[in-house]
Amino acid sequence: MPRSPSPSQAPRFSLKQLLLEVVFRWMRCWNSHFFLMLTEFLFQVKNATNQIVMNCADIDIITASYAPEGDEEVHATGFNYQNEDEKVTLSFPSTLQKGTGTLKIDFVGELNDKMKGFYRSKYSTPSGDTRYAAVTQFEATDARRAFPCWDEPAIKATFDISLVVPKDRVALSNMNVVERRPYPDDESLVEVKFARSPVMSTYLVAFVVGEYDFVEARSQDGVLVRVYTPVGKAEQGRFALEVAAKTLPFYKDYFNVPYPLPKIDLIAIADFAAGAMENWGLVTYRETALLIDPKNSCSSSRQWVALVVGHELAHQWFGNLVTMEWWTHLWLNEGFASWIEYLCVDHCFPEYDIWTQFVSADYTRAQELDALDNSHPIEVSVGHPSEVDEIFDAISYSKGASVIRMLHDYIGDEDFRKGMNLYLTKFQQRNAATEDLWESLEKASGKPIAAVMNTWTKQMGFPLIYVEAEQQEDDKVLKLVQKKFCASGPYTGEDFPMWMVPISICTSEDPSSAKMQILMDKPELTVVLKDTKPEQWVKLNLGTVGFYRTQYSPAMLESLIPAIKDLSLPPVDRLGLQNDLFSLARAGIISTVEVLKVMEAFVNEPNYTVWSDLSCNLGILATLLSHTDFHEDIQVFIRDVFSPIGERLGWDPKPGEGHLDALLRGLVLGKLGKAGHKATLEEARRRFKEHVEGKHILSADLRSPVYVTVLKHGDSSTLDTMLKLHKQADMQEEKNRIERVLGAISQPELIQKVLTFALSEEVRPQDTVSVIGGVAGGSKQGRKAAWKFVRDNWEELYNRYQGGFLISRLIKLTVDGFANDKMAAEVKAFFESHPAPSAERTVQQCCENILLNAAWLRRDADSIQHFLQQRRAPV
Ligand code: BES
Ligand code: ZN
Repeated sequence: MPRSPSPSQAPRFSLKQLLLEVVFRWMRCWNSHFFLMLTEFLFQVKNATNQIVMNCADIDIITASYAPEGDEEVHATGFNYQNEDEKVTLSFPSTLQKGTGTLKIDFVGELNDKMKGFYRSKYSTPSGDTRYAAVTQFEATDARRAFPCWDEPAIKATFDISLVVPKDRVALSNMNVVERRPYPDDESLVEVKFARSPVMSTYLVAFVVGEYDFVEARSQDGVLVRVYTPVGKAEQGRFALEVAAKTLPFYKDYFNVPYPLPKIDLIAIADFAAGAMENWGLVTYRETALLIDPKNSCSSSRQWVALVVGHELAHQWFGNLVTMEWWTHLWLNEGFASWIEYLCVDHCFPEYDIWTQFVSADYTRAQELDALDNSHPIEVSVGHPSEVDEIFDAISYSKGASVIRMLHDYIGDEDFRKGMNLYLTKFQQRNAATEDLWESLEKASGKPIAAVMNTWTKQMGFPLIYVEAEQQEDDKVLKLVQKKFCASGPYTGEDFPMWMVPISICTSEDPSSAKMQILMDKPELTVVLKDTKPEQWVKLNLGTVGFYRTQYSPAMLESLIPAIKDLSLPPVDRLGLQNDLFSLARAGIISTVEVLKVMEAFVNEPNYTVWSDLSCNLGILATLLSHTDFHEDIQVFIRDVFSPIGERLGWDPKPGEGHLDALLRGLVLGKLGKAGHKATLEEARRRFKEHVEGKHILSADLRSPVYVTVLKHGDSSTLDTMLKLHKQADMQEEKNRIERVLGAISQPELIQKVLTFALSEEVRPQDTVSVIGGVAGGSKQGRKAAWKFVRDNWEELYNRYQGGFLISRLIKLTVDGFANDKMAAEVKAFFESHPAPSAERTVQQCCENILLNAAWLRRDADSIQHFLQQRRAPV
């Protein structure tokens, strides 16, 4: 892939203001594919030239002219489109002299259906008619599909936007409406003019035209907040509205910088590729990331909506007010927002215990990816749009968030906030790079932030800390060694990457506070823990905050096991310990059987998140063992591990239970049901029948576990019933819930039916990925069938997502679970002949994972089989 030099070097122009007038003259019937736009750019020519080069894609320019201030306009005589580079060169018959002037471009653009640029999104009216809304999604590099521009984050301008739309439609943009007037010559249209925006980057511009209802509130700091929903569903916006109204003052207070616009709209868009997008003042969301129905939404949806709202609103400051200099610093935006969304949800909903969930959702996910040879540094050089698309991944988001969490812990909240305020006020309305943030935090804290953080953001990977202890009278002497952690086993590279690692150490005397804190900046270190008795255990990485894995000497590990059983170790530390062991086993550093034995120590575990992580790891192991002939034995193990907690919880909520109990019940029953636990299966079938018959509707929290259980052990009539429920569902949340579990069905002909359904009109374009992914993850047969289906329908799938990040997600979900060398070669070969530039790295990561799975199986299959079978038949 050619790397275009970026960002644009030595700009010839400095842009001041951009006037956009979008006319829907030809769109009255809402299915014409084109729009007309009249644009005016006020800018300064810095060097005399007779050419103007701009970003531009899928646009037909009608006329372009340049008028120097106070002088005659000159018409461009040539439009030379460089399609590959997504650029156009306008040629003028005479030289444009230094100075300010106005460039006018009238053009026709395509209202596409690719969920990027300016696109149409299909919806049904309450009476069942099909209609289209027109919406935008510009990040990262698609503003150029809606209007020619200099489409780079560091080229900021103010925007004056007008929309000419049918008068019965809602028209929204970043700013508030300042004028609405009839459109000359056409009574059915109105012109809606919006206030001038602050200076901002093109990727944050947005407009939406469609039919919507809304609920509104004024936040305590005076900002008008509206949540726009499909017609008739305004009440489903209530939850997000409350979260947003609480969140705005929270951020204002945290950053000590007010929200700069008079209003903010949050709107649910039916066809939407990402989860949500932070357009300044007009945040767009998938329906499932914004709408909550008190009766039909489950607890995890509520939590997801809160997190997404918290995330996108954080960008209003961090990203919109201060923007990254170039996409290399994308992680600043996404890593930061992915961290602070938790801080915000913890503030709004302390009962969610959301920080523990951070560890299983982001921290461990980041470590899994970052242990691969095909990972990449957080700061990565990118040029071509496909390279930019590629870095919206778990490194930018989850590793980014994890290193910020570690940094926040290292600095302390007070100085961290001071530094954030310095950064936001210094760079407001401008752009900044990673170093700029470090400088502000360094100033605020007096700590060597850049030196520490460069080791985490400029090199890929993270360390494994090996620790052993020796008792010397009343003290323990710890020997620590750091080495890069590799998913393929002990590090054998030639160079020795090092990290500056903040390490905390605690003992059984006080498991929840650090007895010692050090900054390990060399390969080996010896520390003395004073007054630590022989019987006391020692644990590193209190709170699982440091971005490293720990390997304990066998003796140290053994002493920690009782602290799992008796719960004296805090939940997030139990989780971290288990997750470290699992990944060490996967890498072949310890044996998998050893981890399975540790998992048995979780019999008394009450914590949702700990179970969730354990469940996820057992899922990975079950997928691996699905390639063997003893796959049933791991199901027995899962049933044994999960049935005591299942019995304790029962099916129905008990008085006084809360959010986390609901999540735990859903998790455990789903796991038991899928694993074929007899009593769970019977009860799921009974409740499902009553649900379908309308006798007793399942509570939202029990639906996923019941659906997955009956499908896993179901037949064609079960599948038909599920498809019928899907058709009847009014909420997108329910449709998605069903779509995700359909792949649990295991008969080959039914698997085919699900795959065909994935590409049907019944499934929204962005959700096809999770249906196919569900099939691949549902069973061994499903995996093969899904991979064949992706290959057979490659053209259609690739075109549907036009490269984009959904294609990477699809590939990963489909092939990551294979476990033999031949499959790695097959996957590699397929993508060599069917290139997907924005998914190149994902393909390499998947091939690496497949080879790792194969090696894991070769190494441990026999001992796992022996262990599982001997525990089934005790002597
Ligand atoms: N800026 C992104 C949206 C985005 C993602 C644009 C990918 C272009 C490509 C937004 O802030 C975001 O991160 N959305 C997340 C949801 C969030 C809660 C993690 C998403 O879309 O997954
Ligand atoms: Zn984001």
